[in-house]
Amino acid sequence: INPMSVIGERVVIAMVGLPARGKSYTSRAIVHFFTFLGCPVRLFNAGNKRRTKGLAGAAASFFEASNKDAQQQREQMAMETLDDLLAWLESAPHGCACGIFDATNTTVARRRAVIERCARAEKQSATPLRLVFVESVCNDAAILKHSYRLKLSNGDYEGQDAEKALADFVSRVRAYEQVYETITDEEASGFEAEFDTNGGRLRYVQTVDAGRKLVASGCNSYLMSHLVALLHTIHLYPRKILILLAGESANDRDGIRGGDTELSEAGRAYSAALCDVVRARGERAAACRMLRRRRCLA
Ligand code: SIN
Repeated sequence: INPMSVIGERVVIAMVGLPARGKSYTSRAIVHFFTFLGCPVRLFNAGNKRRTKGLAGAAASFFEASNKDAQQQREQMAMETLDDLLAWLESAPHGCACGIFDATNTTVARRRAVIERCARAEKQSATPLRLVFVESVCNDAAILKHSYRLKLSNGDYEGQDAEKALADFVSRVRAYEQVYETITDEEASGFEAEFDTNGGRLRYVQTVDAGRKLVASGCNSYLMSHLVALLHTIHLYPRKILILLAGESANDRDGIRGGDTELSEAGRAYSAALCDVVRARGERAAACRMLRRRRCLA
């Protein structure tokens, strides 16, 4: 029996972070991992909601806190996105289910609105709801440069001149930075018991510089432990992955399929030669570690 079908934990994961901090990347990784574990999971993206409402390509000024009209629209679209999520969660079949709210959620006021909305939904539902905020903080210049470039391929900048689009995107980030409030212990401990907030405390995970540091608070349930384990493994640095064929094993040599025998003499010679090639390409550390783990290398 898959524990996901008997444990019955309902979770809302609300992302937090400035634009281009890997929120959508992380959200998709959670979708893949939870699907693999057999937990129904769905992603709800506030930016997509805005784009489908005819506001694709909104200029940076739309994201300024001083632009009160736009701010009201943004808040409304974010809450509609969350409502879609809560309705889906309510209709999910018995067992575990997880909805991911992919939005910036960068102010205490926005997070308070998310908490209240979830509390209201929980009161109208027969199933308890757990809310966890996942904040991605990133100040590493190399990662940011890479992420900003990737952003230019989204629906807001389609067909635009790359340099102009980048300048607009940087201004959008600045607009968010003006009002950004990271999750603090003080914020996390100020919750009433009106909602299952872990005994009055907010559940949250903070990842710093794409996995360099991870802070987890109150994430002690079944789904949360899987979530934290996954977040430990995510990093946004560009990296190369080499997939290499293992050398001939003793079973291969004897014409036996399968098993997990040691390498034959020819297999060892192959692995040594392969390792020389890998080292010559400057990929020593990671690839050789992998070869050793697979017992392909003495
Ligand atoms: C967006 O409209 O792209 C983001 C919405 C938000 O601020 O959460």
